Amino acid sequence: MKLWGGRFSQKTNHLLETFNASITFDYKLFKEDIEGSIAHATMLEKIGVITSEELKLVIKGLKEVQEDIEGDTSILNIENEDIHMNVESLLTQKIGTLGKKIHTARSRNDQVAVDLKMYTKKKIQGILSLLEELLSTFLTISEQHMDYILPGYTHLQRAQPIRLSFHIMAYFQKIKRDYTRFEDVLERLDELPLGSGAMSGVSYETDRVLMKDLLGFSRISDNAMDAVSDRDYVIEFQSAASILMMHLSQISEEMILWSSYEFKFIEISDDFTTGSSIMPQKKNPDACELLRGKTGRVFGNLMGILTVMKGLPLAYNKDMQEDKEGLFDTVETLMISLQVLNEMLKTVKYNKKQMFDAVQYGFLNATDMADYLVYKGLPFRECHEIVGKITKDCIEQNIIFEEMTLEMFQKYSLLFDASIFETISIEQVIENKKSFGSTSKKSVLISIENGYDFLKIKKH
Ligand code: ARG
Repeated sequence: MKLWGGRFSQKTNHLLETFNASITFDYKLFKEDIEGSIAHATMLEKIGVITSEELKLVIKGLKEVQEDIEGDTSILNIENEDIHMNVESLLTQKIGTLGKKIHTARSRNDQVAVDLKMYTKKKIQGILSLLEELLSTFLTISEQHMDYILPGYTHLQRAQPIRLSFHIMAYFQKIKRDYTRFEDVLERLDELPLGSGAMSGVSYETDRVLMKDLLGFSRISDNAMDAVSDRDYVIEFQSAASILMMHLSQISEEMILWSSYEFKFIEISDDFTTGSSIMPQKKNPDACELLRGKTGRVFGNLMGILTVMKGLPLAYNKDMQEDKEGLFDTVETLMISLQVLNEMLKTVKYNKKQMFDAVQYGFLNATDMADYLVYKGLPFRECHEIVGKITKDCIEQNIIFEEMTLEMFQKYSLLFDASIFETISIEQVIENKKSFGSTSKKSVLISIENGYDFLKIKKH
């Protein structure tokens, strides 16, 4: 007999039984469900609904149920629909009628809301730790490769020379924003929904503050109807996850490009690459490709939950049961992706020579040549024009700026003198960057130091 079977005279259709049940996936919430039930029962004892003897039995029973589920999830069954009713029914099997008392002043809408929030909170903590590890790897790589110079690109065309550390620290900033985005989600969701009842509150003098403290929430929700219908935090989590995955896909894409024969800037270690079943020479960056590819399912999960929630009337609707699989999938995808990327990055070898050779071709010092003329007093637009002409002529003659003689320079402008050669040397071009946040060594060192400070404050 169903826990809610009283008003029914017919059995549930077997198709509906399968269609309606969430136990096949929400069993993952069993720990949260039991923790929530213990807090609720503790509160019931405090307000006199159950005695302290009964509370002891309930807690003991719930802990045993937890051990039983940990040992064998096949004790959960589809007739009991979801994790909440499975736990209650297992408890009742253990402690008899007393088990039936704990649903006093509580609804499943309450339970699913608090369980899912507790799950999301826990997972965000885990994701924050993994992000800290990734950020710390970026700092180590940056420190170790300060003097590696490579082309910086715009439109994937060689643009200006930069330090590898500067490039890596750009990713540090992106992932740091992801970190604070997850912190924001955590801050906003940290509000206990339990105690809302089905949707309008309960007619007992409950103590929600006690439950908040027991379950480690910072605040209690202000409106029961909102509390049971709120899945904003799932959407926010999926959004933060999507932006993070987008960044991981960008990093992966660069690793794929950089490890190609065309670039040869990096080599990914053997243990993070795979071979081809037919082409013996191949070493494929499968891990990077999968990281890039898995972005698809995370974006999909975001669209999924947005669509589920769109247009729902207040308050709880069964549609909302569809919030969980996408959330679990995104959590699992993020956890493994962050670990794979972090471990893989640690093994990457950077090819200093290949990077530096690439900087020689592509006139990456053209902007600095124009700036040189600006310092000599010419308006920037005119300088741009002159350097454009020089570049065009060099391309035609198949030479680079550094191969020009002073006389050749002076044909374009008499403002050029021998100091032009130093100005356009790659080292000089990089160190000449004076703006805060630039690729000069001084700037990059500051940014690394700030990065360490950030991690010191955050590390938990
Ligand atoms: N399994 C349900 C879910 O995941 C739990 C809440 C059910 N509430 C209800 N009134 N049917 O959303």
